[in-house]
Amino acid sequence: MSTEILFEIGTRLGREHAQDHERFRLHWEEHVQRSREMILRGAERVTTPDAVTILGAGAAYNIPLEELAGKFNHIRMVDIDREGLQQAVESMPPELRSKAEVHVADTTGGVAARLLDQGLEIIRTSADEEDTKARLIALFNGQGLDMTPDPSRVQAWKASYIVSSGLSSQLNIFPEKAVLEAFQEKFGHELDEEFFFQRGSSHLRNEWVRRHGELLASLVSEDGRIYWADTVAETPYLSEFGEGPLNAMVNSVVSFLTNAYLKTFLQDAGKQTLAERFAEAAAIRLAGDAAGRRRQGDELLQSFNDRLSAENKRVMAWAIMTMVGENLIVTKRELELLGYIIREAERMNPNARQPLLDGRLSGFFPASLEADAEMASWMWINDPEGAVTLDGYSYYVEAHILKPRKS
Ligand SMILES: C[S@@+](CC[C@H](N)C(=O)[O-])C[C@H]1O[C@@H](n2cnc3c(N)ncnc32)[C@H](O)[C@@H]1O
Repeated sequence: MSTEILFEIGTRLGREHAQDHERFRLHWEEHVQRSREMILRGAERVTTPDAVTILGAGAAYNIPLEELAGKFNHIRMVDIDREGLQQAVESMPPELRSKAEVHVADTTGGVAARLLDQGLEIIRTSADEEDTKARLIALFNGQGLDMTPDPSRVQAWKASYIVSSGLSSQLNIFPEKAVLEAFQEKFGHELDEEFFFQRGSSHLRNEWVRRHGELLASLVSEDGRIYWADTVAETPYLSEFGEGPLNAMVNSVVSFLTNAYLKTFLQDAGKQTLAERFAEAAAIRLAGDAAGRRRQGDELLQSFNDRLSAENKRVMAWAIMTMVGENLIVTKRELELLGYIIREAERMNPNARQPLLDGRLSGFFPASLEADAEMASWMWINDPEGAVTLDGYSYYVEAHILKPRKS
């Protein structure tokens, strides 16, 4: 079985995820804080706090481990990201670490590893590229895949509080990634990371989410609670419509900047970068040292509303857009700009918001579970650069607290 390959890919992607978190700390803040709050809200409702199981815990950056360890006797974390789990334990205060238990394991009960196995086998045995692609597409649409989990693997995760954050919609991504890499190794060229998704693998994703709901129901004790959160849609996703939407967005950002208080819009380093990027785009030679460039950046900002030509306003708007995610824009202003870009993209074209699941997460609850609190939802700006280029990577998250339905 390919379980070890799944752990390798989980650990590697976990490392990349941690780097993104470091880079985009500011943009992830809302997701991290809202997740932690809602997880604690669920914990408060647990009357027998024996153990909490965190499925897909990874490095647990958005899990309030210390507070959970204060309430529960055992903290069990399950993931395919070996290093992430290790870091999660190390992030706990030393006196609480003895409560932590780490399970490097596949939460699908072996189905993800089985899918990966079958995908790798197709690549290994097939000589023709087109035939390989066709067979992989069928497999990643669920054809010929036995989705029955091995229940013995998941028994050990039963608890009075089950936490699952951002896992259920991601289950397909890891086998997909490993198979795409094996394909490239054999046939010498890369397939798009969306290759399977664009060819109908969303059907399998939905099925996985549904089964994940069943897993959650099977793990929680009778008087226990579940926290289930996931990304349900991606935005602003317009790159497949060519340059048009991006051009229109630059015009919109010109309007946004026209109404913004530009004097305090950029950090000092941002003013210097603005002068440099503006000069580069307008093919102007820049003289002077860093301080001189900062001054020039300042002057550019001040000239925006009265002296800059319409074309140069566009050049400047784009220069500022490229500065997003680089600690060059004042924090609050950057979040306002990103919020504006996302709203504007969705207003321009309702297709900018791409569903990741068929409907809401609540549509995937098994009949044996019911909501125990009002759901929460928020936006997770996962990659601000993707938002600016209209490539997506910001997500609508839904978070629920559930309990077993009394029969
Ligand atoms: C996007 S991250 C979630 C991160 C964070 N908890 C959040 O809510 O944003 C998904 C996590 O699921 C883990 N994961 C993916 N497939 C898995 C599987 N089959 N079994 C266990 N964990 C898995 C990944 O390693 C990763 O840590």
